[in-house]
Amino acid sequence: MMHIDVITVLPELLESPFSHSILKRAQQKGLLEVTLHNLRDYTPYKHGQVDDYQFGGGAGMVMMPEPLARAIESLSEKGAYEEIIYLTPDGERFHQKLANQLSLKQRLLLICGHYKGIDERIREQFITREISIGDYVLSGGELAAAVVVDAIGRLIPGVLNDETSALFDSFQDNLLAPPVYTRPADFRGREVPPELLCGDPKVIDAWRLEKALERTRAKRPDLLDDEL
Ligand code: 6GU
Repeated sequence: MMHIDVITVLPELLESPFSHSILKRAQQKGLLEVTLHNLRDYTPYKHGQVDDYQFGGGAGMVMMPEPLARAIESLSEKGAYEEIIYLTPDGERFHQKLANQLSLKQRLLLICGHYKGIDERIREQFITREISIGDYVLSGGELAAAVVVDAIGRLIPGVLNDETSALFDSFQDNLLAPPVYTRPADFRGREVPPELLCGDPKVIDAWRLEKALERTRAKRPDLLDDEL
């Protein structure tokens, strides 16, 4: 069973994405446990203060080290984390290979930044990995945490069944997925490719591979040069 703790100032923002669809099923099956922790519960300061002005001046608040250190230390008492991950736009870009690696872990701690980020000393002392989900700025790490947990959670063995298998996902083999069709076979005069209807798995697999390659070459040629 994988356990993921998330430290955030906005737990409400994260409740919904973890309570539906595949992540919900993963938790119901006992394969994944996601627990949200409100950083304000760990602050020693009055009024639940968790951020302050930055030394040196400049616009924007910084998340104070003491509440974060207390939260990390308190949660670590229940068992050591294999990774303590800070979600930040200046982190390593998230990708499928990293999702695969993290899906093999048992205990992860995710920390969502806000405002101008967290005090540098927390990064130095506690954080083992920093992840960005892309080159754009979000208002906080919460939506990024939802993305990372979703990408990891669906890869935990047993979470997906044969029908939803991750083996054939785009990116899993550095190829985009081929086109897919469902009923009817003739939609307003547009027909499903005959290869998919022929019933021969060899023909179907060959067609899918060809289309996956075609699509990758057209939309994401960079993936074909990547190492797996
Ligand atoms: Cl992880 N956090 C924020 N605030 N913005 C981001 C991001 C993370 N990844 C991309 N943009």
